[in-house]
Amino acid sequence: MPIFLGMGVNILAIESSCDDTSVAVLSDHRVLSNIISSQIIHKKYGGVVPEAASRIHMEMIVQCCNEALITSGLSLDQIQAIAVTRGPGLMGSLIVGLAYAKGLALSLGIPLIEVNHLQAHVYSVMMDQESLEFPILCLTVSGGHTQLCVLEEDLSLEILGQTIDDAAGEAFDKIGKLLQLPYPAGPLIDKMAKEGKAIYTFPKAKVGGHDFSFSGLKTSVLYFLQKQLLIDPEFITKEIHNLCASVQKVICDMLLEKTIESAEQYGIKSIGIAGGVSANSHIRTVFKNTCDAKGWNLYIPKISYCTDNAAMIGIVSLYKYQKRLFATMDISALARYSIKDS
Ligand code: KG4
Ligand code: ZN
Repeated sequence: MPIFLGMGVNILAIESSCDDTSVAVLSDHRVLSNIISSQIIHKKYGGVVPEAASRIHMEMIVQCCNEALITSGLSLDQIQAIAVTRGPGLMGSLIVGLAYAKGLALSLGIPLIEVNHLQAHVYSVMMDQESLEFPILCLTVSGGHTQLCVLEEDLSLEILGQTIDDAAGEAFDKIGKLLQLPYPAGPLIDKMAKEGKAIYTFPKAKVGGHDFSFSGLKTSVLYFLQKQLLIDPEFITKEIHNLCASVQKVICDMLLEKTIESAEQYGIKSIGIAGGVSANSHIRTVFKNTCDAKGWNLYIPKISYCTDNAAMIGIVSLYKYQKRLFATMDISALARYSIKDS
């Protein structure tokens, strides 16, 4: 990533917005370590339990931090700034990362940089790229968000559209639940679809502008399954691979069609995909084939940078470090306030 070359800054970045505790150490744009501890407890509840998530973040954060430092080969006194996810995310989960990061920055006397989680997913399209052609039309597809935005050369962002209801990852997970798959169903659907064929057709939502919609798809899969189960109670078990392939195809088609339409409308010839759903093998292949056929650039991060990770938080923090966009840490003002108050 040529943009951040030669800054000479080491950053420790923390991500704890949902159910992954992650700590990364970056030296300029080079990722020296990116430790991710994923919480598996939520599988048995069919979704993330916020209270459990924040408790596990508390248990894991020190360990992840130590591991990230050891792997990076750097010590805390070589770190020049602490970066942390400010939001959006689960409040209890965010607080664990924010409080830890703030305490660390204060104790080391170095700046704290607060990062927007969605901006981090978008910036992750730049990771490991030798050269980049701007503007880039970025599709962010995760469990909580589906968004199309334009990333300019000065790294400013313009949001074009987003989902008006469920996110693409949410569609994978909720439809997966209907297919009796455990949470998160996205990676399982990807795996099972490999042995199936997209023989079932589900309607694609027609939404205007650059927005998306996935809740109608979930309802049509539900009605389809209810009908089939009346005929054959074993339908899901027998047809799981074809069902996964069909669901995956329709979600992918909806994402691809809207992205291509928007790129053509804006005359953009570089596409980026990020967020957990961009780990999907079918989506990666279809976007690659389409961009190759059109002669467009395609930037997709490697899998460990697609799902939630602290390295992407670190990348945004480099940009903010350059611009000296640090969080307020004026504890003397806070102390004055409390003395006056008491
Ligand atoms: O970005 P992420 O790790 O967390 C959020 O910020 O939401 O995304 C998690 C989402 C989940 O909905 C998960 O099912 C989906 O990404 N996901 C996938 C795949 N891997 C993760 N969906 C489809 N295929 C995959 N291979
Ligand atoms: Zn995310």
